[in-house]
Amino acid sequence: MLELANVSASYGAVPALTEVSINVREGEAVGLLGANGAGKSTTLRTISGLLRSRSGAITFAHKNIASLPPYKITELGIAHVPEGRQVFPELTVQENLEIGAYVPAAKAERKRSLELVLGIFPVLAARRKQLAGTMSGGEQQMLAVGRGLMLKPRLLMLDEPSLGLAPVVTDMTFQKIQEIHAMGTAILLVEQNVSRALQLVQRAYVLESGRVIMHGSSAELAGNKQVQAAYLGV
Ligand SMILES: Nc1ncnc2c1ncn2[C@@H]1O[C@H](COP(=O)(O)OP(=O)(O)OP(=O)(O)O)[C@@H](O)[C@H]1O
Ligand SMILES: [Mg+2]
Repeated sequence: MLELANVSASYGAVPALTEVSINVREGEAVGLLGANGAGKSTTLRTISGLLRSRSGAITFAHKNIASLPPYKITELGIAHVPEGRQVFPELTVQENLEIGAYVPAAKAERKRSLELVLGIFPVLAARRKQLAGTMSGGEQQMLAVGRGLMLKPRLLMLDEPSLGLAPVVTDMTFQKIQEIHAMGTAILLVEQNVSRALQLVQRAYVLESGRVIMHGSSAELAGNKQVQAAYLGV
């Protein structure tokens, strides 16, 4: 469904991605792992059109999306929940969610989507009138994921959803992502918490200095000595 073939991208003259090739099939959950600065967020930004690739091909549902503006890419069914949550603090939970459904197809189904999202995240339902900026970190993370879901995406890209969350809140967040995946949404998950990520995804890619240095099934990666030493503290 999503395919990056030899995608390179840079920030000004500084290369950030070098010939990155990854793919996500319909309904699949795929991980993107790697150390700080490896290029994980940059990969998501390049897919969602926030950063232009310099070379290589990016296709989604058989369409070349490499030169489309971000809102067109969103319209095709890719939702990007960026690093650091970025909810609108002065708006209520419900307003944040409603704003999430900003493309025409999603807007038409806004009511139904809101019910769905509030069903997945009861904590948001209980706090729908609360200002988003006064929610806890974990609640804001759920809201950010919920807002992405309001787009009714075919592919949900999540950038470090567990960052800064207490273990029990992390557990809950992962459980929710699992539920969303079980409903048929494909997931591209960027995570620092490699052992948790490998429990959720079927396959993963490991990035280092903007290159894919390894990829395989979750079981293969979890059993790989290099991965164990670098990311799993084994
Ligand atoms: N806006 C920017 N301008 C210049 N360089 C950038 C910019 N954003 C990221 N970079 C650089 O690109 C490289 C990849 O950054 P990226 O944010 O993709 O890493 P990451 O894998 O998401 O790391 P982290 O786990 O810390 O979030 C880094 O060297 C970073 O300094
Ligand atoms: Mg990042």
